[in-house]
Amino acid sequence: MKIGFIGAGSIGSAMIKGLIHSGINPDDILVKGGRSNRTKELQKELNFKIVSNIIDLRDTDIIVIAVGSLALKDVFNELKEFVKNQVIVSVSGGSTIEFMQSYLPNHATAFAIPNTPVSIGEGVTGISYAKEFNEGQKELVKDVFERMGKLIEVPEEQLGIFGTVAGCSPAFIDILIEALSDAGVLNGLPRKLSYEAVIQMLIGSSKLAQQSKGHVAQLKDQVTSPGGSTIRGVAALEENGFRNALIKAINAANNG
Ligand SMILES: NC(=O)c1ccc[n+]([C@@H]2O[C@H](COP(=O)([O-])OP(=O)(O)OC[C@H]3O[C@@H](n4cnc5c(N)ncnc54)[C@H](OP(=O)(O)O)[C@@H]3O)[C@@H](O)[C@H]2O)c1
Repeated sequence: MKIGFIGAGSIGSAMIKGLIHSGINPDDILVKGGRSNRTKELQKELNFKIVSNIIDLRDTDIIVIAVGSLALKDVFNELKEFVKNQVIVSVSGGSTIEFMQSYLPNHATAFAIPNTPVSIGEGVTGISYAKEFNEGQKELVKDVFERMGKLIEVPEEQLGIFGTVAGCSPAFIDILIEALSDAGVLNGLPRKLSYEAVIQMLIGSSKLAQQSKGHVAQLKDQVTSPGGSTIRGVAALEENGFRNALIKAINAANNG
């Protein structure tokens, strides 16, 4: 399978890293980069193939578009000249299926929103397929994207908020990690140990929540003993608007 990329900035490079990390041969990844040296620098690290023109992706099985939205029209004007059998998946903001099919009518186009943990195979990508996608083409997309984490089909009108929750929250979680580690340090834990404890706690808590059949609140209930330290912490979080801060953060990110 040959995978083409147009654009290898923050999210494109994260996806390429994830694919190579999953065992895809770098020779099977063809990348058309932008104007800067960024793609060449990345190639030194990852050894994929760089192509000079978009048309050089004509023999790939799937083309992933990861350019900024301002470049989309130019990219599709070039794609429409040669695309026949390739599946097109765009992760660029504004790539609605209607937009893509205005250049490639009735073609198997999909709009996807990945997040940066795709670089280590732990991402989550929401995807909406054009109705023209057949099962074989969906399998091809799954084969590529499930190497980078979870792939979830989402109605197109929900992709925006999906992307906000899955794509912006890693930054919020980074702040959470830093703040909890600061609190550990404030109370005497060495910095490195504090980060180690917090990060592993988050991994474990997330896996437990994922594997648990019940509501996450039950997990919280199980560790809050009457009058104990954890419920005192929960009360302090409520007093300081923890839930509200997170809801407001997602709203602010989503409704900009
Ligand atoms: N970052 C994320 O976590 C994330 C997640 C999901 C979706 N997205 C969406 O994905 C898109 C890209 O985001 P990003 O954060 O990766 O932006 P970015 O870091 O600016 O990367 C965009 C890349 O596209 C390249 N490019 C521009 N025009 C091109 C062209 N005609 N042909 C080939 N390459 C071209 C640029 O190359 P040069 O700089 O070399 O010119 C740049 O490396 C955006 O629409 C964003 O909304 C981002």
